[in-house]
Amino acid sequence: MDLKISGKVAIMAGGSAGMGRATAERLAEAGVKLYISARREKRLVRAASEISSKYGVKVTPIIADSSTEEGRNTLFSACPSPDILAITIKPPPPNGNFLDVTPQMWRDSIETALIGPIEIMRHYIPIMKNKNWGRIVNIATFSAKNPMVWRLMSGPARSALVNFTASVSREIARYGVNINNILPGMFATEGSSENTEAYARAFNIKADEDSVTKHFSTHNTIPTGFAGIADDMAPMAALLCSPLSRYIVGQNIVIDGGQHRSLF
Ligand SMILES: NC(=O)c1ccc[n+]([C@@H]2O[C@H](COP(=O)([O-])OP(=O)(O)OC[C@H]3O[C@@H](n4cnc5c(N)ncnc54)[C@H](OP(=O)(O)O)[C@@H]3O)[C@@H](O)[C@H]2O)c1
Repeated sequence: MDLKISGKVAIMAGGSAGMGRATAERLAEAGVKLYISARREKRLVRAASEISSKYGVKVTPIIADSSTEEGRNTLFSACPSPDILAITIKPPPPNGNFLDVTPQMWRDSIETALIGPIEIMRHYIPIMKNKNWGRIVNIATFSAKNPMVWRLMSGPARSALVNFTASVSREIARYGVNINNILPGMFATEGSSENTEAYARAFNIKADEDSVTKHFSTHNTIPTGFAGIADDMAPMAALLCSPLSRYIVGQNIVIDGGQHRSLF
């Protein structure tokens, strides 16, 4: 399918690994001029170079932390006028006992998972409105909709993000600027491997990937029988970045192998 975005300027904020990188690849494959950002330089530069040589498009790496004002300003100067903006940010790790969650932990979660994406959107929305076209996609989490007591540092802030985008998307759709969110379930990514110790602490189990995988397969049954890989969500993200999605506004697409049981 031709996504009709060849030549458009796209940012994948958080594009060096996991679902961000997979989305960046689908956008590059469709022929965008791509900017990818992340905090860690080495992996970011390698990803930019690999994506560029694989798809034959220009990919500019930007070292920038989306959760800080300084990082966001770096992103804004490096890419002043994107047509497409996809954002993902890693929230703080899984918590243990909910009674041990402190005000500072809440502030960290809100600063990264809520204020970070909101501030990036607040900067770029007027620019997209002026061009009468834009696409914004947040890669958030299914725990925004499906609360999990061990994921308080991710779900509640993303529920607020989803609330924000539900309102704002309806204000800006008439300018051809659409915001939608993807709410991923359990995915095997670099990021989830990095959380092995935090999961183990939260669940009080041994800190190795086998124990964590076993815990998830016992306590979080996924109807497909497997956890997703990043490419299981990236095509949907790319579709939401395309003119083909012009009638999809303010939606939250859960991609979780059927784990979250709800009608809508
Ligand atoms: N994997 C899962 O099972 C799962 C489940 C539910 C929800 N999610 C959500 O889905 C999103 C993607 O997860 P993933 O597993 O694909 O993560 P990942 O493998 O860690 O990839 C995240 C990407 O974003 C970058 N990034 C993270 N924080 C950033 C920040 N503050 N500023 C700029 N770049 C940042 C990372 O690079 P640097 O680290 O170098 O910055 C990396 O390129 C996250 O928001 C996560 O909460 C994941």
